[in-house]
Amino acid sequence: MSHRLRFITCGSVDDGKSSLIGRLLFDTKQIFDDQYQALQKDSERFGTQGAVPDLALLVDGLQAEREQGITIDVAYRFFSTPQRAFIVADTPGHEQYTRNMATGASTADAAVVLVDARKGVLTQTRRHSRILALMGVRQVVLAVNKMDMVDWRQPTFDAICADYRAFASELGLNEVHAIPMSALTGDNISSASISPQTPWYHGPSLLQWLEAVPTAQPTANTPLRLPVQLVLRPNAEFRGYGGRIAQGTVRAGDAIVILPSTVRSTVKQIFIGDEAVLEARTGDSVCITFADERDASRGDVICSAEAPLDVAEQFHAHVVWMHESPLIPGRPYLMKLRHQTVQATVTSIRHQIDPNSGAHLAARELALNDIAAVHLGLSKPLPYAPYAENRDLGGFILIDRVSNATVGAGTLDFALRRDHNLHWQALAVNKEARATLKNQTPCCVWFTGLSGSGKSTLASLLEKRLHAQGRHTYVLDGDNVRHGLNRDLGFTEADRAENVRRVAEVARLMVDAGLVVIVAFISPFRAEREFARGLFTPGEFVEVFVDTPLDECERRDPKGLYALARAGQIPNFTGISSPYEAPTAPELHVGGATEPMDAALERIYRKIVRLLTQPPEKP
Ligand code: ADX
Repeated sequence: MSHRLRFITCGSVDDGKSSLIGRLLFDTKQIFDDQYQALQKDSERFGTQGAVPDLALLVDGLQAEREQGITIDVAYRFFSTPQRAFIVADTPGHEQYTRNMATGASTADAAVVLVDARKGVLTQTRRHSRILALMGVRQVVLAVNKMDMVDWRQPTFDAICADYRAFASELGLNEVHAIPMSALTGDNISSASISPQTPWYHGPSLLQWLEAVPTAQPTANTPLRLPVQLVLRPNAEFRGYGGRIAQGTVRAGDAIVILPSTVRSTVKQIFIGDEAVLEARTGDSVCITFADERDASRGDVICSAEAPLDVAEQFHAHVVWMHESPLIPGRPYLMKLRHQTVQATVTSIRHQIDPNSGAHLAARELALNDIAAVHLGLSKPLPYAPYAENRDLGGFILIDRVSNATVGAGTLDFALRRDHNLHWQALAVNKEARATLKNQTPCCVWFTGLSGSGKSTLASLLEKRLHAQGRHTYVLDGDNVRHGLNRDLGFTEADRAENVRRVAEVARLMVDAGLVVIVAFISPFRAEREFARGLFTPGEFVEVFVDTPLDECERRDPKGLYALARAGQIPNFTGISSPYEAPTAPELHVGGATEPMDAALERIYRKIVRLLTQPPEKP
């Protein structure tokens, strides 16, 4: 039996997708008899096809069940013939479901693009084909459905094929096979011979095409890439590394290199299940051991020593945004690439792509279902391959740090050249040496709260007291930093994210310099505050939530800004027309309507003095 085929069906809402999948399941005898009888009853009651069993009902019924609790709405169905087993990804056809299509396409070897013979190629057909091309699906069959509704006329079919092929070749989809069919009557779907309705057609039926089409598996004849999923240590003697071979062949005795550490070793043993084997190849799930005591971790990639993967941390990539809250450049997300999770920010949106026309559009943010080319920066270098070469090694998802929801999916295209030209300079004098000289343990005290809450006042008083004690301090205040370093930034969500990112990086440098850094920024979003926290070692970052209620801040209104914001003269004003996400677990929670300023200051001061005199935690 040939390799299992994963394919996706796409088309407009009523091109007959459900009928087609229902027909394939039915013709390959995947429907049990009792289901069929129930279907016949339902068809009489609800069906749109009179007494003919309406196969679409079958699929839609399953779908309703599966939709429960699935965020990404892709239903996978299984069927098989003596030649091959199939997994079909069924995704809703509505325009707003780009993300579902992209998800389904990302694992598909082939795609069935359905068009209604009466309507021909539609906007939706183009949109879906573009996503197929983007997600690397190269094997496409154009299923011209509902041919019975156009009296099986060959010229109609030919015109649609010509129209689609012209468009598809622009996308790099050069070999599109087209089949005239009717999912309703079953012609040319799974029959072994051509339908008498289309004596002018000489190709395979849809099922025959699906049985014969090659899968997208990379060949075994390429250099080894084995992403480590599991480190197996059942006892002190055995240390094995488990994972599915993403590409290539591995044999006992092969020289390998572990990335990103670049440690080299030799393969000693290979196991598939419990069985020791001499060789394993693409797609095999293996456990391997090394000839010497070398270490690899989950997320590393074991590569052939002669041709290792590239390792990089800045990329040109494509993303499909999948969440209601927008993608904000500069905001930290988690990126999952294979078994590795790192922090990632979109450093810039190069252009958004109009899925209908392919036009490049300027964009500052991405909304649900938007597709864009972006630059990505990761928190550490990762081994990768361009998605076009290997989907396992170049496909990723983005996760929201706070909610843990999957918010985007994407493909790595190539590493940015500047990535290879940037190096981390090791310096002779380090943080510890600088701190020792100043006789203090440096830290970052991060005040967050509404405008007018008292952050700047507290920051300034805290610095004064520490300074009087002979401590080395510096205050980074939102208003002040916005006059210089961040002069180019406004108050949109994206600009605030960047504002906070920059000040967090500056604070890190200052802590590295041995200072007690006091930051007073509204910093209204949890994601950026978490990012800031992540730049420091545990204990070094002290988040202080200055929790003065909005009505009190508004009453104080020291700069008269609330009055202007209420009058509609300042857009995106925190607390009025832009959200403030209160910290859920700050190190210190002060203020409120009831705590006097000096009591709050005293509590903060004591906590910081305790920190300053403690030895630092090792990173
Ligand atoms: S942050 O949200 O990006 O962290 P930041 O602390 O730098 O804000 O700047 C806040 C200061 O900018 C406020 O204290 C206020 O003086 C001023 N400001 C001007 N416009 C706005 C606005 N739309 N929202 C909040 N503060 C504003």
